[in-house]
Amino acid sequence: MISLTKKDPEKTAVDLLVYIVARTDDKKLICARDSIRKRILPVWRAGDFSGKAEEVLLLYPGSAPGAKAGDIKAKRLLVVGFGKVEEQPDPRREQLRVAAGTAAAQARKIKAGQVLVVLPDFTGLAGNEVAECVAEGLVLGNYLFTKYKKPADDEDVPRQVEKFLLSGGTFPPSLVERGLREGSTAAMAACVARDMAYEPANYWTPAHFADFGSKLAARTGLKCTVLDKADMKRLGMGGILAVNQGSALPPKLVILEYRTRAKNPTLMLVGKGLTFDSGGLSLKPAAGMEDMKYDMCGGAAVLAAMQAVAEEKPQGLNVVALVPATDNMAGSAALKPGDVITHYNGRTCEVVNTDAEGRLIVADALAYGIKRFKPDAVIDVATLTGAVIVGLGHHRTGLLSNNDALAERIIATGGRCGEPLWRLPLGPEYTKQLKSDVADLKNIGGKSAGTITAASFLQEFVGDTPWAHLDIAGTAWGFTEKPYIPAKGPSGIVTRTLIALIRTWQPLQK
Ligand code: BES
Ligand code: MN
Ligand code: ZN
Repeated sequence: MISLTKKDPEKTAVDLLVYIVARTDDKKLICARDSIRKRILPVWRAGDFSGKAEEVLLLYPGSAPGAKAGDIKAKRLLVVGFGKVEEQPDPRREQLRVAAGTAAAQARKIKAGQVLVVLPDFTGLAGNEVAECVAEGLVLGNYLFTKYKKPADDEDVPRQVEKFLLSGGTFPPSLVERGLREGSTAAMAACVARDMAYEPANYWTPAHFADFGSKLAARTGLKCTVLDKADMKRLGMGGILAVNQGSALPPKLVILEYRTRAKNPTLMLVGKGLTFDSGGLSLKPAAGMEDMKYDMCGGAAVLAAMQAVAEEKPQGLNVVALVPATDNMAGSAALKPGDVITHYNGRTCEVVNTDAEGRLIVADALAYGIKRFKPDAVIDVATLTGAVIVGLGHHRTGLLSNNDALAERIIATGGRCGEPLWRLPLGPEYTKQLKSDVADLKNIGGKSAGTITAASFLQEFVGDTPWAHLDIAGTAWGFTEKPYIPAKGPSGIVTRTLIALIRTWQPLQK
């Protein structure tokens, strides 16, 4: 979707030519090209454009008085504000994504088919980082899900840009190329996660997760195994089976393996693939229940990240991904409040509330995956608790971990990716809230600290393995509005963070 061009941007005939422009403390404009800066100056002097973030200025170069034919070949020139260049690199990377996302949105609005973006040279970031972040902003900002809308006769229906060209300016082409490749791969994976999430629950079932896994494996050489209901019974995965009891659709446990060498460290990813959460017999209220098709966003992020892994084939580590997939329904065989179930690791659990189902399926996958793959580190991703929205709103993913180094690494990587996280504590005082009168554990811990008690439940299934749990219930959809992330709908959150973690993975210090 994005390719590099070495041609002079001003001499390239495209529908839209984009320059990103920053402002300084004394309100001066900075632009990669002086000739472009001069064109903006009259507008800037008139006070109509100041270079603030998300500000746009659309010019028609051919119509300028005194314009020479062939001056700028593009039909239109879009100037996008960058704001003041932030001090720290992470915010600057975010500024680039925001600017590129703004450009993509404008390009769509004017129905530009071909868009040429010139990389800004004033950010102080290396060429690969600039290209990476701009590519992410363009791909993510250009995203649309229109599968179930008939192509309208209505002219005003949004359309995607067909082709982006990137001009690297004075940056070394090899760096720009690498950044473009990395940014596009990660952003396209996030779009795949968004696609899965957007699918309604009648079109995205556990079988669809299994299908995605086996097709990805067939295409790329990953290994895919799908455990079905009979396998789960044989293995004693009482959590997944219990949640699935009220459903007309069989459960699946999708396992993808990317292997380099046995001696390399293994990272294990687990994603909650709850394709619809009605709450089960502890039924959810009707209002907003349609959003519970998004309860599989953890599974989507993990599988989408595996797509990037399969494409990039990073060296020096093995990655395995597990997605326990089922819906949570209230059919006549459904799990009942008060039922006691036995998890994969033999722990018994009193199910006090059938709506606290995510932890039941993730617990089995964690225990099984850790026993089978003996990973050096585990990250699970789940839309686990409404409580995380109370605590962190829609702006940060909740992170809970039994390992400081792993937690810090994920927080730093999420920050670089524009996917911020915030750590919450764990501890015996919280685990105590899960004490049951009839079983080893109960599946809810009372009103207080809902996100922590949910994570504490999972902690019972990971032993000493370094583990981090990402609660994306607040960020998987309706995430902080940004030009490259739609206000409504799924965000694809954590996909890019997982990919970045894998790209830079180093063994955890023992
Ligand atoms: N999938 C939900 C969590 C959720 C809630 C995600 C809102 C996104 C938005 C989860 O399965 C759930 O229902 N959790 C309950 C737990 C409670 C019963 C202890 C919750 O958060 O209300
Ligand atoms: Mn639930
Ligand atoms: Zn759920």
